[in-house]
Amino acid sequence: MMRENHVAPTDLIAPLFVQTGENIREPIASLPGQNRFSPDTSAKEALELWNLGIPAVILFGIPDSKDAIGTSATDPNGPVPRTIREIKRLAPEVCVIADVCACEYTDHGHCGILHGETVDNDATLELLGRVAVAYARAGCDMVAPSDMMDGRVAAIRGALDAAGCAMTPIMSYAAKFAGAFYGPFRDAAGSAPSFGDRRSYQMDISNRREALREMALDTEEGADALIIKPGLFCLDLVRDARERFDLPLCVYNVSSEYAMIKAAGQIGWINEKQLIDETLISFKRAGADLIITYHAREWAEAI
Ligand code: PBG
Repeated sequence: MMRENHVAPTDLIAPLFVQTGENIREPIASLPGQNRFSPDTSAKEALELWNLGIPAVILFGIPDSKDAIGTSATDPNGPVPRTIREIKRLAPEVCVIADVCACEYTDHGHCGILHGETVDNDATLELLGRVAVAYARAGCDMVAPSDMMDGRVAAIRGALDAAGCAMTPIMSYAAKFAGAFYGPFRDAAGSAPSFGDRRSYQMDISNRREALREMALDTEEGADALIIKPGLFCLDLVRDARERFDLPLCVYNVSSEYAMIKAAGQIGWINEKQLIDETLISFKRAGADLIITYHAREWAEAI
């Protein structure tokens, strides 16, 4: 009765790693309990999540081929568009969100097109627009750009509208920090940069005001929802954002946060189940509406 915050399965978005093929359900070593799926098994997973009360998934593609300019990211028969169509066939009510980025599709692993050794922000915008259109045409319910190029929300909005996809909303990774937070994800998706790091486009973890500027810019450019990432390291920003912006606010409980709990749980150093509960409620207390989390399925099963 006195409890101020609650977590419900309807708050959760489950990440899914997808590749082409059939009947694939391959465990991911760096993310115990998570799998790489093919389009058919992704759809089954999405339906099972739906039956547990989890309304949404976010898709990350592992393509068959990579090149310097991320050509496979726009392939209408790539793993993400195929999976969108499969999920919509088997479980049409599931909200399918597609992460939009180049890093899984470039052979150098950076989130955009290179000019020399640096990412060319403006050349990347056009690619991101085409990727978003490919996913929208495949039937996804929302696109989520995670590349952190400046101006990409406006560019993607323009590309979607021009392609007749005006009804596809954008949930932008508005404040996303560079660092070691995404290591297990990059193992899972094969998207680690082959040289350098992402500090020319992702933010410095020291900066709070800059995060608010980034969120304000994405809001002005037409974002329909904002993501803050990593989650547990940024609860102050979740609270700041809750007070400043009216858009739906999503927090990404990232791969390293998940992996730390799993590792400590496996060796019996923590009460894993309780810590997962406390992690998720902390996001709600900070002010998040939605939580992208690898814990989604196990948490919903446990309740
Ligand atoms: C793609 C992307 C990443 C994550 C989400 N989208 C990796 C990165 O930026 O290197 C990380 C999610 C996680 O760690 O769980 N750019």
